[in-house]
Amino acid sequence: MKVQVFEDYDSESAATAAIIGAAIAVKPNSLICIASGHTPVGVFRQLVKDVKARVIDFSKCTFVSLDEWIGIDPLDSGSCLAMLKKDFFDHLALRKDQVRYFNVTAPSLDEECDKMNNLIKNHGGLDVMLVGIGTNGHIGMNEPGTSFNTYAHIGKLAEETILTGQKYFQKPTSLNDGITLGLQHFKEAKVPILMASGETKSSIIRKVIASAPTAQIPATIIHETPQALVILDKAANGI
Ligand code: F6R
Repeated sequence: MKVQVFEDYDSESAATAAIIGAAIAVKPNSLICIASGHTPVGVFRQLVKDVKARVIDFSKCTFVSLDEWIGIDPLDSGSCLAMLKKDFFDHLALRKDQVRYFNVTAPSLDEECDKMNNLIKNHGGLDVMLVGIGTNGHIGMNEPGTSFNTYAHIGKLAEETILTGQKYFQKPTSLNDGITLGLQHFKEAKVPILMASGETKSSIIRKVIASAPTAQIPATIIHETPQALVILDKAANGI
């Protein structure tokens, strides 16, 4: 695991976009998992600029969204898919088959997990996986207590996630469960990137970096993932 600290959010975002760009330059048909939420917005902004400037070509890539709230209409502006569309996909001329996501309105969510697991397995794993971190150390919707060995699955959301998750919604919203790629996907990704920004993340980042790997802090999986990159701004580094 390698930690890189940048002066501010913009330089952190630009550096992360450059890492993704470099991975795609080596493998144009990359399978790329991206988190939604506030953290990766700057990366998306930079990637869109790079595509427009023809520095990056996503035409052979496939994107996989990391997770989704169960029971939330995908059209709700707080759904993970709606956020990814608004912040990223809508700015790129992608074909429909280039964007894969958990359809929480499908009759079987177990089948949605199987589909996602098979897609990733048949590709030989994720080439890039960009994730954020919750203040409780979650990655995706892998909450404290989740085994490191899981692939896509359904999980109960932690109380802290339910509370902080309200920031994505326009009105108080009942959140209970999520469907998410697993921590094993992170461990097996060729370029797993954990990104954190801002002072609100400094306390958990400190814990994650100092702690031995434990399911109680899912992000400590970085210590079992030698190829992982932890990308921070100074505020999230907190030192
Ligand atoms: C979002 C996701 C979450 C967020 C995390 C940080 O798809 O999986 O785990 O990455 O909660 O959220 P932000 O970036 O909004 O601080």
